[in-house]
Amino acid sequence: MANTSLEARGVHKSFPGVLALQDVSISLRGGAIHALLGENGAGKSTLIKIVTGVYRPDAGEMLLDGAPVRFAGPRDAIAAGIGVVHQERNLIPRFSVGENIGLEHLGGGFLRAIDYDALHAEAKKWLEVLELDLDPRTPVSQLNVAKMQLVEIAKALSLRSRILLLDEPTASLTPQETQVLFRLLRKLRDEGASLLFVSHKLEEVQEICDEVTVLRDGRNACPSRPMTGLARQDLVRLMIGRNEQVPAWSTRSAQGKPAMLELKGVSTSLGHSNIDLKLRESEIVGLYGLVGAGRSELAKCILGLHAITSGQILIAGEPSRIGSVAEAIHQHGIGYISEDRKREGLILDHSVLENAGVTVWRKLMSTLGFLRDETVRARVAPIIAGLEVRTPSLAQTVGNLSGGNQQKISVAKWLAAGVRILIVDEPSVGIDIKTKAYIHELLRRLADEGTAILLITSDMPEIITVADRIVVMDDYRIKGELANTRDYTSMGEGIMALIHARDAA
Ligand SMILES: Nc1ncnc2c1ncn2[C@@H]1O[C@H](COP(=O)(O)OP(=O)(O)OP(=O)(O)O)[C@@H](O)[C@H]1O
Ligand SMILES: [Mg+2]
Repeated sequence: MANTSLEARGVHKSFPGVLALQDVSISLRGGAIHALLGENGAGKSTLIKIVTGVYRPDAGEMLLDGAPVRFAGPRDAIAAGIGVVHQERNLIPRFSVGENIGLEHLGGGFLRAIDYDALHAEAKKWLEVLELDLDPRTPVSQLNVAKMQLVEIAKALSLRSRILLLDEPTASLTPQETQVLFRLLRKLRDEGASLLFVSHKLEEVQEICDEVTVLRDGRNACPSRPMTGLARQDLVRLMIGRNEQVPAWSTRSAQGKPAMLELKGVSTSLGHSNIDLKLRESEIVGLYGLVGAGRSELAKCILGLHAITSGQILIAGEPSRIGSVAEAIHQHGIGYISEDRKREGLILDHSVLENAGVTVWRKLMSTLGFLRDETVRARVAPIIAGLEVRTPSLAQTVGNLSGGNQQKISVAKWLAAGVRILIVDEPSVGIDIKTKAYIHELLRRLADEGTAILLITSDMPEIITVADRIVVMDDYRIKGELANTRDYTSMGEGIMALIHARDAA
């Protein structure tokens, strides 16, 4: 009989300089979807790694269907019927999608001949379960973040575990992809499986979870309990110890300010056609679209990572062509917070200071010739503090920070840089609600100080909260533009209407 209930009791875990978990307990049962909530650095991933044998707890016990167990490594957890999707990606980029999904099944089987047709057929089955139309022979390195996340999920599903732990599986998914996943999770639950779901999107948590455990500063803020009777505000209070603060921002207008970045009839080698876009000084333009609409790709073309095939780009009124991200910051003062921060944003085995300070370094180096750590530290430390980055010191290796805290560093890096144009791609994915509000405030403050900001996001409340103007993109074209009235309902409807509108031309 496969196990379905999993309990951890009195778990302690410390890392050098960090007490990650103190006397934490959680209880998962079959037939329920259990939410694990907490701010960035609260200890969620650490707990998941302990119950899946990645880390050994300093103290505490674990029970599977009531019987004590101890895992020496991840394979023991798999053998006991526990599947997991970790927060950080674990796919091997140069392997195909099918090979990645089949990896655990191959076991020590690399020595025997692999039946690739069977492997890919099996993988295809799991991709179809997720309604993902993807050739299993595609190398993982060619996938975007959302697809990689879905492949990770397919890989976990393929083990047919009765206990399935998902650490922020929806962070980069579209609402549609999320709904497909939710249908599947509900089905597994109804079949008696036991599921754990981590997310910073509280609407999702309330939609799909039956039970909840909240961690705060490495301790239980509540024991495992049913969701019934808990409103969003109750969850927020358990997580952050106070109510959520909703900013009452006034609408801003950059009417009459000079254009800092302007695209005129731009077409690109990636398929954008005839893009017109204007970003003024002190203005936050939100570029909304569903994943795959071509927004991140447009940012990359502006930054010279892909070719502009026709049209004009004007920077502060001057026709320009940017050759690289480095040139963008040095010569044009343009910063770019990439959506794929793991791959493009951070050096994981370098310190917090080195990562967050790299743009300050680059910018000031040219004028000063050399820079003392102190100069960089003075610039970076206040931002790290404001973002409440949970780290024992600025010398900590970034790879040791929690997922959300790593995200904060890549955001901090650009906020410290002092650029005049900032392109931000999905700044709050994986970031807890408290820090998300702080990032929104920082973006507003930067704009008030004159920075022109292009905010790419698929988070509709985020774009309505932060942007002055909203430009809607679909299928590599601009579908239209809306002034932001901050009325969430009518703005939401307006945006969706533009996405679905037929092209005017
Ligand atoms: N390998 C490690 N070495 C040192 N410290 C670590 C390590 N792993 C985690 N930590 C620390 O333990 C604490 C808990 O981290 P954890 O990753 O569990 O947080 P989390 O709740 O998953 O946060 P997030 O929402 O950001 O993913 C953090 O302070 C983190 O920096
Ligand atoms: Mg985590």
